[in-house]
Amino acid sequence: MPRIRLLLIFLMFSAPLFPQKFEGLALTPPMGWNSWNTFATDIHEELIKGVADAFVEFGYKEAGYQYIVLDDGWMAMERDADGNLQADPQKFPGGMKALADYIHSKGLKFGLYNCAGSKTCAGYPGSRGHEYQDARKYAEWGVDFLKYDWCNTENLNAKGAYQTMRDALYAAGRPVVFSICEWGTDQPWTWGAEMGHLWRTSGDIVNCWDCEIGHGNWSSRGVWPIIRLREGIRRFSGPGHWNDFDMMEVGNGMSAAEDRVHFAMWAMLASPLIMGNDVRSASPETVKTLTNKAVIAVNQDKLGAMAFLFSDEGDFEVWAKPLAGEEWALVFVNMSEESRKLDFDWGKHPLEDGLHHRRVQLDKEPYAVRDLFKHRDIGTTATGLKATVPAHDLVMVRLKKQEN
Ligand code: GLA
Repeated sequence: MPRIRLLLIFLMFSAPLFPQKFEGLALTPPMGWNSWNTFATDIHEELIKGVADAFVEFGYKEAGYQYIVLDDGWMAMERDADGNLQADPQKFPGGMKALADYIHSKGLKFGLYNCAGSKTCAGYPGSRGHEYQDARKYAEWGVDFLKYDWCNTENLNAKGAYQTMRDALYAAGRPVVFSICEWGTDQPWTWGAEMGHLWRTSGDIVNCWDCEIGHGNWSSRGVWPIIRLREGIRRFSGPGHWNDFDMMEVGNGMSAAEDRVHFAMWAMLASPLIMGNDVRSASPETVKTLTNKAVIAVNQDKLGAMAFLFSDEGDFEVWAKPLAGEEWALVFVNMSEESRKLDFDWGKHPLEDGLHHRRVQLDKEPYAVRDLFKHRDIGTTATGLKATVPAHDLVMVRLKKQEN
């Protein structure tokens, strides 16, 4: 065989010569749990093992949650004599490899946090100048997911810094979902798909419906301010590269109705579904919301489209998400402080999504309507949608074309 042909065959079957992100990962939004929202830096081995056990015991794993991610605070304050990161010996006496093995033994995946700067946001050793060394360590420990933050990054260029870590992970050889946590400052949606699999769109979430809390040069935001902040970035999201609206606050103090809306909206926005509550002690109501498979199926839909605000009916906001196979998901959210009657006339609202080339006149070609929280078929779009919806609650439906 001529040499040139041999070379071509080699190139076809070998890894790409140039570093890149790991392709073929996160083709639907990643699902898992992260320690930060509830535990901040107060994390330890027994807690994390308990979370892995809870994934199996309470049905999170079965519902599709996979990644268990340790956020800031897992490291010792200093690197070792060779410059390697090390787990905090008090919090994680068994070390990271043993913890990863435990998580893997349950059929789950293991994630860690670090930062592009010299130190993490909580002051632990950052990866700046150690990217390749840290990536090798993660591969040795069995890390499957890396959340990479943006504190203490003076003079660093965001795209370049994330590219360096991406290349380091690639060189280390273990496939890793790379989670960009740069808070939207440098418009990561415009370059993030090349560098990683998801990118945060805002500063940190806080457990409220509609609040914004200033912290000097940044703000934490509740559910609706986070959504409103980035209404224009829909087109950047899709399979393998997601707008990340932050870890969820379901189960962390909002009402059960507000939690349902929060969860449904994250599903609609095709955001990663990363739980941020104490999943070991969640109430049955919280578990029910977080493991609602019909809602999760909307999030995990293969088309990977992000929802858009379809109609503003005053007290009701209606959001629509096109799904694979010509189906649709819609939510009708009662934004008011009181119970409201919903009376939605499908005929007045052609459902149209230019981005995915869809248009349907729902009263003329009726679709079957299924309620995704009540788990019932509730008629077709030939007639209007009527319901009484409590304050800050919703109706979520899936529309399926009827066979004629
Ligand atoms: C930043 C991130 C948070 C969390 C903390 C940890 O604020 O945005 O999600 O990771 O750092 O210190």
